[in-house]
Formats: sequence, structure tokens, C-alpha cells
Amino acid sequence: MTSLASLDRTWRNGHRVVAIDGPAASGKSSTAQWVAQDLGYRHVDSGALYRAVTAAALRWAGPPANWDPSTVLDCAQRVTLAPNEGTSFDVWIDGHEASEELRSPEVTSHVAVVAQMQVVRSWVNSRVREVATRFDVVVDGRDMGTAVFPDAELKIFLIADPWERARRRLLQRVQRRPTDAEIAAETELLVRRDAADATQTVQARDAILIDTSALTQEEQVGRIVALARASAAGE
Ligand code: C5P
Repeated sequence: MTSLASLDRTWRNGHRVVAIDGPAASGKSSTAQWVAQDLGYRHVDSGALYRAVTAAALRWAGPPANWDPSTVLDCAQRVTLAPNEGTSFDVWIDGHEASEELRSPEVTSHVAVVAQMQVVRSWVNSRVREVATRFDVVVDGRDMGTAVFPDAELKIFLIADPWERARRRLLQRVQRRPTDAEIAAETELLVRRDAADATQTVQARDAILIDTSALTQEEQVGRIVALARASAAGE
């Protein structure tokens, strides 16, 4: 019998989608990467596309105070997503692989403005949907399970306590145990980013909420992989 889920994915040539959304530093991208490896899917990081458009705008759209959506959209045309030798995609800007540049503090501080431009959101959404017509994907972002793939086979919304998110992010960055004062300062930054991203961070009604505050990354990945396998087996 043809299930509703398989009918829904005809536009994707039968490819499957696991959508993982959640706030900044909730562990979405690293979890999504690992889930993709376990399932044999490809990982697509939609945040990296917003970051790449921002990096391109910083180079070619003039001073950020004057950015207008059509100039920023022109800059987006220099960004491409290329499948790499692993299980994800590299982001290229104007013919150069750009992963390092995407994490710069300058990009991080301007990306929310770019992400609020509707023309940029449509451009990113089209890129991500196009990839899903060619590969089974694990996509992560803020609105993958709502605006981009309302028909995803599995939707996850990851949350974690802000202090814990800040602690994990710092641990990754400084490679030692962060002090409480450092965690407090990072928590403040994260809460501000949550507020800037609030309108586009949406939990789908049919998403499964996972609070990772007390979970190891292995446990989070294990749960999502088990849910994806159960969903595929149930069709
Ligand atoms: O996930 P990451 O923190 O790298 O995303 C960078 C920024 O891109 C977010 O802070 C948010 O402003 C924007 N974003 C978005 N919608 C998505 C993914 C990211 O608005 N689906």
C-alpha cells in the first residue's frame, strides 16, 4: 500500500528528509552530521547558507547599515553548495571553499539581519529543497520542519538549558573547562541571539521535542537514529 508519507515525497524523487530544528548552540549541526552518517544520508546545514550569504554581503554589499534585500540577494548568487567526499556539503563563495569564514564573529553578528530578509529565506529554502530531490538528507536549522519540509518523514526539535548550551559552546571553543563567569557572559550572548532569531525558530506541531540538557551527544544521536528507523519501518 502506498502510504501518505511516500506520496508526499514524490516531488523529492522518493528521497527522505529528517528535519532537526532548534535554537543556537542546541547541538543541531553536530548531531545532524552524526545522524546522517549513521543513516547513510547527507547532512545539510541551512544555517551555513545564511552565514555564507552574510559573508558574501560583507564583501560585496557595502556597509551593513545600507544593506538592501536585492543587493544581498545578488551576493547570494555567488554561494554554492557542493557535495563533499564525506556525508555533507561544502559551502563555496565565489569559487572558494568557505567553511572557516562562516564562523567568524563578524558573520555571526550580522547573520540575523540577513536571515530576516524574505528574499534570502526563499533563496536558502530553494537550495535546501533542491538538494533533497537528489539525496536522502538530514537538514538542520530553525524552520526546516515548518517552512521548508512540512512533509518531512521525521521532525525533531532540540532544546537545552541556555547555561548548558553556553557551557558546551565554550568547551568546544576554548578546549578547557570554562569558568562560571565565562559561561554567564556566553549565556547572555546566546539569549540575545535566541531573541533575534525568535520569529524564525518554530517548532512544528508534529515535531518530537528532545531536551538535550542532560543527554550526551551519543544519546541524542541514538534516539534520533532509532526514531528515523522506526518511521521508515512503519511505512
Ligand atoms: O545554525 P546557525 O547558528 O549557524 O545559523 C546562523 C543563523 O542563521 C541563525 O542565527 C539564524 O539567524 C539563521 N538561520 C535561520 N533559519 C535557519 C537556519 C539559520 O534564520 N533555518
